Amino acid sequence: MKFFVDTAEIKDIAELNDLGMVDGVTTNPSLILKSGRDILEVTKEICDIVSGPVSAEVVATQADAMIAEGRKLAEIAENITVKLPLTWDGLKACKVLSSEGKMVNVTLCFSANQALLAAKAGATFISPFIGRLDDIDLDGMDLIEDIRTIYDNYGFDTQILAASIRSVGHVRECALVGADVMTAPPEVIRKLATHPLTDKGLDQFMKDWAKTGQNIL
Ligand code: G3P
Repeated sequence: MKFFVDTAEIKDIAELNDLGMVDGVTTNPSLILKSGRDILEVTKEICDIVSGPVSAEVVATQADAMIAEGRKLAEIAENITVKLPLTWDGLKACKVLSSEGKMVNVTLCFSANQALLAAKAGATFISPFIGRLDDIDLDGMDLIEDIRTIYDNYGFDTQILAASIRSVGHVRECALVGADVMTAPPEVIRKLATHPLTDKGLDQFMKDWAKTGQNIL
């Protein structure tokens, strides 16, 4: 499963990228707001760091304007993925931009039928939002499983990019059900390395080592 990092914070992206944990980046208007940066400038900086797909989201709601924004964003770098909302206009823009050879990430997906439409419109990635479904007492992971089954049934090559990931449990479940990619905030990716038994075991090793009176260096 590929790891995308869901942030526009350069420091976090660079740190995780140096560790080999970043196969791509996803941003959205809320993350750009949080960064306090200009969208074109920060997206260019991200593309200079990361060689994999970097999603940059349009903000227009009509297909023609989405296409124009998508083309402008795609000029930033070769690894830009144009992110479009899963609306009828977004699907129209997806069809046009994907036909031009641009990578497209269709976002704000909350149903298997929406994912089916995105695949038919040529999306490179479909972004089902797990956490936001869980927020309203639906099972986000059921949606990932349904999309996996449908895409496999018909041989769609659109990649399932599990988004709105809030916990390490979400990451594990995504890997088990076969999401192609997961995108998570930096803090969730860092938390994947932690386990209370690791901390406890290390604490014991350190105490015992101190008792030996030895040094390695
Ligand atoms: O990639 C989409 C993601 O940023 C949404 O996450 O936590 O705002 O639902 P969240």
